[in-house]
Amino acid sequence: MKIAVLGLGHVGLPTALGLAELGWPVVGAEDDQTKAELIASGEVPYREPGVEELLRKHLDTGNFVVEADVSTAMRDASVLFVCVGTPKREDGSADLSQLDAVARAIASNLNGYKLIVEKSTTPVQTAQQLKRSVLRYSGADTSGSGPDFDVAVNPEFLREGMAIEDVMNPDRIVLGVESDRAAKLLLEIYGPLLERSGRSVESSVITTDINTAEIIKHASNSFLATKLSFVNMVADLCEAAGANIDDVARGLGMDPRIGPSYLKAGIGYGGSCFPKDLPAFAWIASQHGLDFSLLREVERINKSRVERFLSEVRKSLWVINGKTLAIWGVAFKPGTDDVREAPSLGIVRGLLEEGAILRVFDPQAMDEFQHHFPDGNAGSLTYCDGPEEAAQDAEAVLLLTEWPEFHEVDLADVRGRMAVPLIVDGRNMLDPDSVRTLGFEYHSIGRP
Ligand code: UGA
Repeated sequence: MKIAVLGLGHVGLPTALGLAELGWPVVGAEDDQTKAELIASGEVPYREPGVEELLRKHLDTGNFVVEADVSTAMRDASVLFVCVGTPKREDGSADLSQLDAVARAIASNLNGYKLIVEKSTTPVQTAQQLKRSVLRYSGADTSGSGPDFDVAVNPEFLREGMAIEDVMNPDRIVLGVESDRAAKLLLEIYGPLLERSGRSVESSVITTDINTAEIIKHASNSFLATKLSFVNMVADLCEAAGANIDDVARGLGMDPRIGPSYLKAGIGYGGSCFPKDLPAFAWIASQHGLDFSLLREVERINKSRVERFLSEVRKSLWVINGKTLAIWGVAFKPGTDDVREAPSLGIVRGLLEEGAILRVFDPQAMDEFQHHFPDGNAGSLTYCDGPEEAAQDAEAVLLLTEWPEFHEVDLADVRGRMAVPLIVDGRNMLDPDSVRTLGFEYHSIGRP
């Protein structure tokens, strides 16, 4: 059984390599020819731990090949994993034009049975629409018998920076299917993965209809984002009332009905998923006549974190204009070079508008960040080689991404370099007592 993975981005490439690692012959296809050529030569177009090693390994074993022509890839394989992007449109809905293009291309390349697996995150009923499109463009009568194919939904739950780990050790495998044939094929594909981890189908696989599988994915991301906005509001209350969010989060998390993860307060969530999927979920609910304003509130709270952090900086510094500030971390979270929808974008923009002079360091994301703020930026932004260099002569360090590397920094040395020993920690990364013992003025979120 040959598998084609259509779209080799943050989801497609780790998925393709995971399948290759399970022993399946995988052909990857990608419309962006520059990206496709880079991957075919063993290079990964973005930073993701473990991907380059697996890529080189499976280009060597021959389990993974990149096919320049998408149609050829489709004809070569009987199972097609669709991993194209579903970006956000102005009104919050998902832009499904890449999926539409894939449906039309598949319709022209139906040379025998195909299982079309939707892995991209999509609003409910997209797979149904995908199926209708394939039928329509293959020239079949939508009500009668047509070409031989199935559509399935197998959402991904990969976190950036942990993608390979999440592909190889998923919490759950969701299979949205319409036929026994599709279910059997997908179970066969994931069989070696369950075998490796000694897990059973019963404990790891949930088989549903295709609409349900789509909702599981959207609801998962929306629920996690809701948890974050909730804990961030509680953090603000802690701050106002003199309580400690770290202890509150620990107290909450020890209740197994709540769980300890996604309770870390800070400057808010970013990335390419939560900020896109939450509005798309609210939008699809509205299309079904439902007012899911809870999610709009989650989004509003998240967006307001940037202004809240800026006002914290203003409170600490009084006037921002003309102050030199060190920025530690710009990635939307540690372990990635991704700055999409990162809170750092709004914070840096706000600080520059108020006349700050910024010295920026991030272990991985500076190249990406430079697309938004070029080095120099009319003399107001400099990229630095390390956190110490960024702190040189600064009147505050603003910590925006909790890179583990920052724990290794000699803060006594940093204090000596700074014009004013002040740290505003947007991720509650540092220990308040230790930092204050070193002579810093220290502000964090929701902690006394
Ligand atoms: C998220 C989901 O976690 C994955 O399960 C899902 O597959 C993926 O979206 C997707 O839809 O493709 P990801 O966007 O990589 O993964 O990011 P997360 O690790 O979930 O973090 C999201 C944001 O929440 C980050 O900005 C992070 O800093 C923030 N966060 C996370 C907190 O502020 N506090 C926390 O306690 C946890």
